[in-house]
Amino acid sequence: MRLNQNILLLGKKVVLVPYTSEHVPRYHEWMKSEELRRLTASEPLTLEQEYAMQRSWREDADKCTFIVLDAEKWQAQSGTSEESCMAGDVNLFLTDVGDPSLGEIEVMIAEPSCRGQGLGTEAVLMMMLYGVTRLGLTKFEAKIGQGNEPSIRMFRKLHFEQVAVSSVFQEVTLRLMMSEPERQWLLEQTSYVQEKPYREGASEPCRQPLCGRPPRDDGRGSLEPC
Ligand SMILES: CC(C)(COP(=O)(O)OP(=O)(O)OC[C@H]1O[C@@H](n2cnc3c(N)ncnc32)[C@H](O)[C@@H]1OP(=O)(O)O)[C@@H](O)C(=O)NCCC(=O)NCCS
Repeated sequence: MRLNQNILLLGKKVVLVPYTSEHVPRYHEWMKSEELRRLTASEPLTLEQEYAMQRSWREDADKCTFIVLDAEKWQAQSGTSEESCMAGDVNLFLTDVGDPSLGEIEVMIAEPSCRGQGLGTEAVLMMMLYGVTRLGLTKFEAKIGQGNEPSIRMFRKLHFEQVAVSSVFQEVTLRLMMSEPERQWLLEQTSYVQEKPYREGASEPCRQPLCGRPPRDDGRGSLEPC
């Protein structure tokens, strides 16, 4: 979607930036891994198809994608290529046309050296914050392969509960309903997160804090940031 195309979310361990063509070569390298494709239920793509996918993710109104950067590397090397700081990606899919308040969340920490340090957890929390405060989401789902214990454990630690098992797809569905206490918990967990413009000179993003106020409806059915 275009809503986040000039948004940078600054956390402690990760920085979330929009997925641009600059990130595609590294992303393509990651997805050559059969294991990553299996864990993320992804098809192998050529480099050209990967560029086309990146463009379609930016255009499609029902997909919100950020690239996860390793904040430590990103802060240490100002001026160098963002590609060298890439750790993974995090996505929200607004798949249910009958329920625009539901977001399916996916995360991948593709760099093995970046795993097990809390990057996946923070990326999911920051994406949920963005979903709640900017997209008006009130529930999240994660569909995870039955054998993917790290991911299932991570989402359970983030208060998701199992609601379904598909023996056909060999996956479990975990859900988190953003009740008022869960919403407060999310806002507390992410109170330090800052939203900034992604590129200097580009149009300014929303100046309001990621405060939990509902997004404004522009009257044409699409949500404007605050
Ligand atoms: C699953 C994944 C996103 C976790 O990201 P991460 O940054 O490594 O995870 P974190 O460091 O934030 O760990 C959070 C919790 O996840 C669980 N976890 C993470 N790695 C684990 C492992 N290897 N074994 C068991 N549990 C694990 C733990 O409960 C951990 O909490 P703890 O450290 O307090 O024990 C990452 O391993 C990954 O991208 N894997 C490949 C792609 C994938 O499976 N994506 C999910 C599809 S929805």
